[in-house]
Amino acid sequence: MESVGYRNVREEDLGPLRRLQGEAIRWLAAREGRDPSLIPLSDEPSPPARHLLRTDPALWWLAELGGRPVGFSGGWVRDQLWVLSNLFVHPDVHGRGVGQELLRRCFAAGRARGARIDAIVSSSHVSAQSLYIRLGLVPRFPLFVLQGLVEALAALPEPASSVKRPTARAGWSRKLSDLDEMVWGRRREIDHQFWLGEPYVDCRALQGEDGALLGYVFFTPDHIGPLAARTRRAQLQLLRLAGQAQMEAGSETVRLQVPGINGTVLKALLDRRFRIDHVNLVMTSLPFGRFDRYLPSGGMML
Ligand SMILES: CC(C)(COP(=O)(O)OP(=O)(O)OC[C@H]1O[C@@H](n2cnc3c(N)ncnc32)[C@H](O)[C@@H]1OP(=O)(O)O)[C@@H](O)C(=O)NCCC(=O)NCCS
Repeated sequence: MESVGYRNVREEDLGPLRRLQGEAIRWLAAREGRDPSLIPLSDEPSPPARHLLRTDPALWWLAELGGRPVGFSGGWVRDQLWVLSNLFVHPDVHGRGVGQELLRRCFAAGRARGARIDAIVSSSHVSAQSLYIRLGLVPRFPLFVLQGLVEALAALPEPASSVKRPTARAGWSRKLSDLDEMVWGRRREIDHQFWLGEPYVDCRALQGEDGALLGYVFFTPDHIGPLAARTRRAQLQLLRLAGQAQMEAGSETVRLQVPGINGTVLKALLDRRFRIDHVNLVMTSLPFGRFDRYLPSGGMML
């Protein structure tokens, strides 16, 4: 049987790898009893994948069989934190050690970049969970993927402090990172600079009377996250701000990912008829951050 070859991912691989990712996620959705056709298939590289590949190219690995990509891993390191952003293997070659080898290469490259602590948003797939646990990560909390009506966010509490619109200029990425250090446990100016520069991403921040940030929220017309806040209640005010802007843009539904330990947001949204689409699992090698006042952007960028 032909053997699998491995090499680093190049920017021109990202289109075909996005399709491979879509096929692997459809396969997983069907296993979980969800409708696979609701998962879009695309050949267009996603902007976050391009950004992450540019910042950490050594962490992106591709597996090839007979000249065709059959799997890939991707990751990033910020402030000594390694995050696995992608691990997908085509269903035709599952169970042959490809996933484990891709994971090993991405992890080793993270260590070489100085990472000392590790985090992964795992799918519900037992093979993935088993690989991550054997790598030394511990399941910490579930991550609920929720979907609901934008108008339901309008009933959340109104912000009591001044509302700002951060931009890619004027030192905003530093200010957002100052808050991350307290809430998320690490700094990542480079990612804020990316989100603030993307035309399809919008941002709002709450500022206290002393000028310090109380929280921020990033959103697109149909998605919210990341969101970080000094207090649990400020999260609800930020969600309301995002919902208002989304309603003005004509959006009807919104998706977001809520940590199982973030009871404030989880209860507020389920009380307002949000539905759980599926549940992932956050695993880390050590505890970090305050995820009771944080909503990730998703599995890729945490
Ligand atoms: C998860 C995924 C990447 C794994 O790729 P793969 O090439 O099939 O994985 P491997 O063959 O290298 O390893 C799978 C391991 O899971 C183990 N495993 C399988 N079922 C298991 C179970 N029920 N309990 C414990 N371990 C199990 C296997 O024993 C194997 O380990 P081993 O080779 O040491 O015996 C692949 O299944 C995939 O793409 N799934 C869909 C998308 C997904 O969930 N991606 C993860 C996103 S976080």
